[in-house]
Amino acid sequence: MKKVLIIGDPGVDDAFAIMYALRHPEIEVVGIVSGYGNVSQQDTVRNTKLLLDLADLEEIPIILGADRPLTGEEPQYFYDVHGNYGLGGLIPDSPASIKVYPLTKVYELIDEHGKDLTLANLSRLSTLALMYLHPENNLDQVDQVLIMGGAFHVPGNVTPLAEANVYGDPQAAKVVAKHGRNLTFIPLNVSNRAIITNEVIDYLAQNSSSPYTPILEPIMSYYSKQYETIMPGINGAPLHDVTLFSYLLNPDRYFTVNRQVHVTVDGPSRGLTHADFRPNPKTLDKDPIHTIVVDFDSSFFVKDFIKIMS
Ligand code: RIB
Ligand code: CA
Repeated sequence: MKKVLIIGDPGVDDAFAIMYALRHPEIEVVGIVSGYGNVSQQDTVRNTKLLLDLADLEEIPIILGADRPLTGEEPQYFYDVHGNYGLGGLIPDSPASIKVYPLTKVYELIDEHGKDLTLANLSRLSTLALMYLHPENNLDQVDQVLIMGGAFHVPGNVTPLAEANVYGDPQAAKVVAKHGRNLTFIPLNVSNRAIITNEVIDYLAQNSSSPYTPILEPIMSYYSKQYETIMPGINGAPLHDVTLFSYLLNPDRYFTVNRQVHVTVDGPSRGLTHADFRPNPKTLDKDPIHTIVVDFDSSFFVKDFIKIMS
């Protein structure tokens, strides 16, 4: 059983990743940190609550993460891609009140689960950077930290060069790359190919029996429609954030390299991530070496997604 603490910004692909993790028989979600990114923190908290309530998992704590980049600049949201409420075409109820925990709860959860715990960061890296910058943090106790982020020598998605989670707070990404240990980056190189088709969602909507079955189609259809413009010719959409949990449980289906990760924080190439992929790379300073996932078995990804979501 893998215990995971999720940091996310649901967001359509985050929502699918959370559903996948909550439905997976070998994953135990110990908490969900709601940040900002795809949509505002107010929306990510409400969306997280909806996903937990549908599965009767109200006991999983919702924790407030960062609500803006480290610099304090206003976040840029993506309601055009993720829908008016962040869940595609779904219009969620607004509960009168939602119980949330302060960020200090993550240190308690790390103390409690230690080496059994994986951190899965699906959003801007602001919360994770704040955690690393805390002088008394206990992040060295966790097993590993998985990050959906970066675009290594491939086109970005928010700019020609940058991936959204890094671009949204590049200073935070730089802090994490410098201070993090046992980090694995799953970048666009892989996640852009983690495409779930409309037919798969139709199949699940008609043949699965989970508390999430009724919401699959409303969430996905808006998002995949937007992706027709973002990636012309695509049938469906990439579920970037699901790759973290697929990788966690099936690492033999993913191909990795170990390199230092570099981030450009400003200028026209803000948010660019790069690494020295030469066979004999040069290392700079004493910065740590991280794992970067560069390829995967995309047909396995789809089959496994169908299995878990069924
Ligand atoms: O670039 C893709 C990432 O940005 C995903 O995590 C998506 O949810 C957004 O946060
Ligand atoms: Ca996300």
